[in-house]
Amino acid sequence: MNLSPATAFPRHLAIIMDGNGRWATQRSLPRTEGHRAGAETARRIVQECLDLGLEFLTLYAFSRENWNRPAQEVGFLFDLLVQFISRELPDLEKRGVRLRILGEEQNLPFAARRTLAHARARTARGERMELNLALNYSGREEIVRACRLYLEAGGAPAGLTPETLGEYLYTAGQPDPDLIIRTSGELRTSNFLLFQAAYSELYFTDTLWPDFTPLDLRAAIADFQARGRRFGAVSEPSF
Ligand code: IPE
Ligand code: IPE
Ligand code: MG
Repeated sequence: MNLSPATAFPRHLAIIMDGNGRWATQRSLPRTEGHRAGAETARRIVQECLDLGLEFLTLYAFSRENWNRPAQEVGFLFDLLVQFISRELPDLEKRGVRLRILGEEQNLPFAARRTLAHARARTARGERMELNLALNYSGREEIVRACRLYLEAGGAPAGLTPETLGEYLYTAGQPDPDLIIRTSGELRTSNFLLFQAAYSELYFTDTLWPDFTPLDLRAAIADFQARGRRFGAVSEPSF
């Protein structure tokens, strides 16, 4: 039995970037300033992941449930997304990042769809790191959608296995996340990667996302590397 070495480096890291609003409120700033600072953190963490040689990075940027926020905040978030992608695109392209969107894109504002389509095309040949942006994402929706797509493609109900279903998820072809980080002290996954997180290691930190540094990322990865992943097997090799 090939037990995963405790020192393995994560191939796929996923992050629930939470706490922007509280970061701003603590500073008597509007929530939007927290999102602006959070985007800067995202930029630094993407760079750090590239430096560390990570293969897959998923950032939870906007959940399907986030539409329940005031229209002004939602509008700001998508404007920020367009700015972020436009500004970072040359560097992402240069560093070999390939962009993928997890979530229902057709319901996003037009400017966001156009920017994302452009960025995806420009980064299509990136081979160094796949960057997934979860946008208008819902784990439950993703699973239901995958089942629908499978059946619409003529798949037989009996042929629907976890493996075939995986081919219809937004993350098709990618390994499951090894490590999921959530900032801001909330101890839940908020509808994130429900199917793919079956054996992910979870790491929670009280640090608010705008305060999360590359050093904090390294600490999370070190914590991950000290864990024993068993995938249901025994913890010690048996004789
Ligand atoms: C995360 O920060 C960003 C998004 C969910 C878009 P929040 O905006 O959720 O910040 P808090 O949780 O209110 O502090
Ligand atoms: C999760 O954060 C979604 C993102 C980070 C994009 P939320 O702030 O929306 O989650 P809840 O509402 O606290 O569960
Ligand atoms: Mg939040």
